[in-house]
Amino acid sequence: MAVSSAPGKVYLFGEHAVVYGEPAVPCAIERRATVSVEERSDDRLRVDARDLTLDGFTVEYGGDSAGGDGENSPEVSVRQSLLEAATGYVDGAIGQARDATDTPDAGFDVAIESDIPLGAGLGSSAAVVVATIDAAVRELGTEIGPRDLAERAYEVEYDVQDGQASRADTFCSATGGAVRVEGSRCNPIAAPNLPFVIGYDGTSGDTGELVGGVRELRETYGFAASTTEAIGDLVREGERALEAEDLNALGELMDFDHGLLSALGVSARSLDAMVWAARDAGALGAKLTGAGGGGCIVALDESDETVRALGHTPQCIEAFRAELDAEGLRAEE
Ligand code: MEV
Repeated sequence: MAVSSAPGKVYLFGEHAVVYGEPAVPCAIERRATVSVEERSDDRLRVDARDLTLDGFTVEYGGDSAGGDGENSPEVSVRQSLLEAATGYVDGAIGQARDATDTPDAGFDVAIESDIPLGAGLGSSAAVVVATIDAAVRELGTEIGPRDLAERAYEVEYDVQDGQASRADTFCSATGGAVRVEGSRCNPIAAPNLPFVIGYDGTSGDTGELVGGVRELRETYGFAASTTEAIGDLVREGERALEAEDLNALGELMDFDHGLLSALGVSARSLDAMVWAARDAGALGAKLTGAGGGGCIVALDESDETVRALGHTPQCIEAFRAELDAEGLRAEE
């Protein structure tokens, strides 16, 4: 058996604008998906994703993508689109592992545990895909480098998300740390220890719909195209602040970024409530992270005040600190 884990991420800056070629800075966080893979003697695939849960999310299925006889139909308490995505990600990751090792008939038992909320803007699917490809490839006695792995994981996300994926989540999950993404170019960048606090509203946004909404807005209104460009400018400022390790400037730019994302229509009442709770508690800055519509916010606060304030915010079902993860993909076994 081979076991790999990979981290989730937050966007410090640049989600949505990255889709239009602007730079973005995702940062890996210390919340992981852990995937165990064991080769089977037949060509079938069984996936146990029972632990893809967090307060109200459960994805539970015994998949049989090779047989597809429908006997193992899933039991779920999440949107069907999320379940299909979850199974699609694992199937895609196994396809990539088969391709990388030239073993199209390899069968596997796959078990997934994750402490990253599903579909909430923390890169849960990328972490699962990166860890699954790595564990399956190692189970077959081969290894692939982080860039190849990140590219294969991106292809899986691209397919499952109907072409609405950037390389940010998968690269960041594979390499860890802070990353600069611009188009197809992804590079690790230096970052100080950032005191991230995450607030989670217990819901998820539909990335495809939200990305489509921004595209429509850009086609209808000139301001929306200028807004994505403004986010790009802000990211370039943010890179300078990162280099200078100026947390106050980073916080201020996060606030601006949230405002611009709100103008693009991707915030939500719950996200705004958490952002304001964080700011009122003295956070240096706060913004939504990921596609928006629901899910998570990220704030910067060295003290415990933001976690405490989010704990008393009705719209927040969980608040936690998340260290920057410097490691990325990890072979556990
Ligand atoms: C979703 O986590 C972030 C978006 O920028 C889409 C993407 O980059 O794939 C909205």
